[in-house]
Amino acid sequence: MDKIILEGGVPLNGTVAVSGSKNAALPLMAASLITPGRHVLHNVPDLRDTRTMLKVLETLGTRWSREGGTVYLDTSELTGAEAPYELVKTMRASVLVLGPLLARVGLARVSLPGGCAIGARPINYHVRGFEQLGVKTVLEKGYVEASAQGRLQGNVVYFDNPTVTGTENLLMASVTASGTTVIKNAAREPEVGNLIDMLVSMGAEIEGRDSDRLTVHGVERLAEAEATIIPDRIEAGTYLIAAAAAGGEVTVQGCIPDHLPSLVEKLRGTGIQIKEHDTSFTVTSPGWTEGSRNLRSVDIRTMPYPGFPTDLQAQFMALMTTAEGVSVIHETIFENRFMHVAELQRMGADIKIDGCTAIVTGKKRGELCGAPVMATDLRASASLVIAGLAAEGITEISRIYHLERGYENMAEKMRKLGARIKVVRE
Ligand code: EPZ
Repeated sequence: MDKIILEGGVPLNGTVAVSGSKNAALPLMAASLITPGRHVLHNVPDLRDTRTMLKVLETLGTRWSREGGTVYLDTSELTGAEAPYELVKTMRASVLVLGPLLARVGLARVSLPGGCAIGARPINYHVRGFEQLGVKTVLEKGYVEASAQGRLQGNVVYFDNPTVTGTENLLMASVTASGTTVIKNAAREPEVGNLIDMLVSMGAEIEGRDSDRLTVHGVERLAEAEATIIPDRIEAGTYLIAAAAAGGEVTVQGCIPDHLPSLVEKLRGTGIQIKEHDTSFTVTSPGWTEGSRNLRSVDIRTMPYPGFPTDLQAQFMALMTTAEGVSVIHETIFENRFMHVAELQRMGADIKIDGCTAIVTGKKRGELCGAPVMATDLRASASLVIAGLAAEGITEISRIYHLERGYENMAEKMRKLGARIKVVRE
């Protein structure tokens, strides 16, 4: 089982380049199914999850190739409309082929993703939205079978909660529907905006980008796509938090500062310095010096964009284990996104959980110690790396395939910043 070994107590210094966004690459790759033809996507990160999406597209008949960050997708031939359980169980975002397949052939059979470490992760909002567009759905044997007689019919779709992939699926299903579709309580994440830009460049007519109300005027067909994946704001935020925890001066380059309004506010609240530039941040942190603690505790509540991202909650919690005072962390998006707490406690962190609230009491330097820990999900893995950077001594993180789902070459990027970190392949 591959693992990461790192020695804490070393500050980070230098520049780290942000890769393309995993959560933008996945819907944009799926969108290539809408139109038969050749599509080009630039700045696609090479991750476990993007490789899984390529496998899903391949099972549907897509031929692809990669040159550096550019992926070429030929979806001229569709040989099937089924995303099998073997693939969907490894990556829930495979459900993103539902919308494109319904738009393309009016048919899709996709395994229900099942739960994952952070929650039940149902897709009822997606299914109900498709039904509003005239799609018949049957849930049986762990699969959702969706079918439509001819073109989908535009309609009003309302989501009880903003759902990111639900919004993306309904956008992709409705762009070639007959008539107009209005998506109410839509997700406003930047990754949704990246998808809208790609669909519009293909000829779709979509109003309301970045708002919670999207209006889609159906068109007959879309053209082939050439699009660029936006920088990964969660990866950028992870490195900002890592620099805050380890101390030092780090420039996080090739990101979009506007995509992290809440995190920057919260990090400034801890007392560290963050300078924003057009496409980068420079963070300067005293880290965790002997005796005193230079970081103040800050409370967070995860919310849909532009609120504090749930995908940065575990990482920020690791930082708060080293801060002065008590931090109250509310996780409002997922029902079980505290899997990292038990592992942080094994390193000496003082964290109490009450439902979806965690109370973190910061420790003195030397009280948070490296230990063998286990990654349970993607962002929990990043949280353990951050805690390991700040802790005294050696931390060994097992099951790092979770980390490799969403972070391109994290160990190498951290090592270039001065971290004493290596991957041990077993
Ligand atoms: C996307 O997941 C992201 N994944 C997640 O990132 C992210 O945590 C999440 O949005 C929230 O920002 C991708 O974009 C590929 P939701 P998604 O639908 O779309 C409930 C990572 O670490 N819900 O916005 O699956 C759901 O259970 C991953 O990169 C329903 O009840 O999340 C959750 O409580 C993890 N029924 C809430 O809504 C539905 O049909 C928000 O989920 C859909 C969602």
